[in-house]
Amino acid sequence: MKKVVLAYSGGLDTSICISILKERYDFGEVIAVIVDVGQPKDDIKMARERAEMLADGSYVIDAREEFVEEYVFPLVKANGCYEGYVLGTAIARPLIAKKIVEIAEKEKAQALAHGCTGKGNDQLRFDFIFSLSGLDIIAPIRELNLTRAWEMEYAKEKGIEIEVTKEKPWSIDENLWSRSIEGGKLEDPWFVPPEDVYEWTKDPKDAPDSPEIIEISFEKGVPLGLNGEELAGLYMIEKLNRIGGEHGIGRTDLIEDRILGLKARENYEHPAATILLSAHKALEQLVLTREELSFKRMVEERWSDLAYKGLMYDPLFGDLNAFIDKTQERVYGEIKVKIFKGNLQIVGRRSPYSLYFEDIVSFDKKLHKEDFSKYHGYQTKLFNEMMGGKKI
Ligand code: ARG
Repeated sequence: MKKVVLAYSGGLDTSICISILKERYDFGEVIAVIVDVGQPKDDIKMARERAEMLADGSYVIDAREEFVEEYVFPLVKANGCYEGYVLGTAIARPLIAKKIVEIAEKEKAQALAHGCTGKGNDQLRFDFIFSLSGLDIIAPIRELNLTRAWEMEYAKEKGIEIEVTKEKPWSIDENLWSRSIEGGKLEDPWFVPPEDVYEWTKDPKDAPDSPEIIEISFEKGVPLGLNGEELAGLYMIEKLNRIGGEHGIGRTDLIEDRILGLKARENYEHPAATILLSAHKALEQLVLTREELSFKRMVEERWSDLAYKGLMYDPLFGDLNAFIDKTQERVYGEIKVKIFKGNLQIVGRRSPYSLYFEDIVSFDKKLHKEDFSKYHGYQTKLFNEMMGGKKI
């Protein structure tokens, strides 16, 4: 009996895929796998129930911690951002795909399936990781070119209950790093997103009337503490999404160049990502030399490009990470961030590796003309002294 493992979300597309894989592709067994990367708890619960009802076998894999440690934190160190997008969906897909492959191997399945259409980036990200397994790849929605109306009709016929009426007219993808909203009227780049597309962030006009200052501490470029308290990554991100969202932080509306070159209109919410990336950059600005910073900007651009394309297994990605990790050895310290009605400001920074020396830069100190050349290469010199007193 032929067996296939499906990346399952619980939505209309992947739900009808289950019966289509049996009817049109002759699979005897469909195993539905839900990978939890921080989707809303209710979505996971609903997906689990549906999978148990519709599929021949199902798994729910909690990959949240792995997502944070192995994907989100490297992104923070890299200041990962593609054209203004914090890459939430992009970095989650390879992890989801990897988990699907692992289950397929365990289940000795012949094929892997996903419910992506033929238009977006996600199909490319899934296909690439799936292809590394050597198993067959099936994408029913893309291959059969199904329309939403046909899908709804088919679901009704099969008794698959999906409350499409209640469904928002947008396509939403959500994990703990970002929430993306696209499609429907939002495809018109002139259309102003209505307030109800947002779920994580308050309209800044309704945000609290007094600002909040939060303090983030970093070790080797990784955020490890919030307001003086050590906090595991997952909880810190959840907490910052709540606090930042309350203050209306982290909304983005942009035109994004998709992998194959089409431009798309995308809306995102990502309070924790905005706060952590801003704080991390501010700390780097304090501890890295100007030379390191300017070179790292180029590295970050290439890193983000590969992450967007889902090419994390390209050797260049590892090479870039090796450079980034080297720079992060000194990224220790604390950053104070003020958030207020949709705005974010860095209002304080300190680090044992700071290259900022108040007594030298101070306006209160007289500088003699003949001192000027002393400051060429000064950061480099400070760095060397700090790292062990190397003078020559
Ligand atoms: N444009 C983003 C990306 O390519 C978000 C995609 C969201 N996917 C979705 N199926 N709604 O990563």
